Amino acid sequence: MTVAYASGKVILFGEHAVVYGRPAIAVPVTQVRAQAMVEGAARGRGIAIVAQDLGQTYLLGQAPPDNPLRQIVVLTLQRLGVGLAHDLTITVSSTIPIARGLGSGAAISTAIVRALSKYFDKELSPRAISDLVYEVEKIHHGTPSGIDNTVIAFERPVYFVKSQTCEALRVKRPFIIIIADTGVQSPTKVAVAEVRRAWEREPSRYDRLFDQIGEVAIRARRAIEEGTIEEMGHLMNENHRLLRLIGVSSPELEELVRAAREAGALGAKLSGAGRGGNMIALVTEETKGAVVKALREAGAKDLIVTEVK
Ligand code: MEV
Repeated sequence: MTVAYASGKVILFGEHAVVYGRPAIAVPVTQVRAQAMVEGAARGRGIAIVAQDLGQTYLLGQAPPDNPLRQIVVLTLQRLGVGLAHDLTITVSSTIPIARGLGSGAAISTAIVRALSKYFDKELSPRAISDLVYEVEKIHHGTPSGIDNTVIAFERPVYFVKSQTCEALRVKRPFIIIIADTGVQSPTKVAVAEVRRAWEREPSRYDRLFDQIGEVAIRARRAIEEGTIEEMGHLMNENHRLLRLIGVSSPELEELVRAAREAGALGAKLSGAGRGGNMIALVTEETKGAVVKALREAGAKDLIVTEVK
């Protein structure tokens, strides 16, 4: 039996614009994770995938072709060159909330790839794992940038440009982020498709906004590498303002962003696809308690405090 894990992720800067080739920054969130367990099954049973959280079991041969669990298992076995004729039970579970911008789908896929490669004793590089997961992300997320699978497979802060750059970020001074959940599910695919339609209607306006977000991400990289945390806070506020203009904020996100800033956060913004899901606030040891309290009072459903280092 083998077990493997993959952590969640959060985008600090550049969501949406990253789909259109501008840079973005994302970090792993190790407080939440997906798990995949692979064990031998009775002879002739074939491959069964147990989605523990959903209370569902799929037999590989009978699962619908568009089932993402089936897809990642098939792609991984092909990549490992071991064929599909095995008797296995693959059990997956996750503590990462679904459709909240924390990369739950990519993390579950990554855990499966890692567990299968361990089970068959065939090592895959983070790049190879990321590429496999991206194949499934493309089927389920419309036009994903690939940042989710990249940060989750590499498990470190990344500066990312679609199809071009994936650089590990040096964090000069560790900093604390509070991730707060609006409680509103927002599938990435829907938000990304709506932004695409808006961009098609007004391409020059949206391209300008994407350019501005890209510039924020470049300046944020510098701030992270130089340890200028107050500057990061300003840039988060600026990034949020631009995301609002793109049309992906929501009343719930606005309320949490406002509460965090008023309670002393250095900066706050929505994170991920928007329209719901999570926001993030940059805090210090001194302001952390007050911002957590304010976010709870403003209706945050779940809070994760994480140190980025
Ligand atoms: C989703 O985590 C981030 C988006 O930028 C979509 C993507 O990059 O694929 C909204």
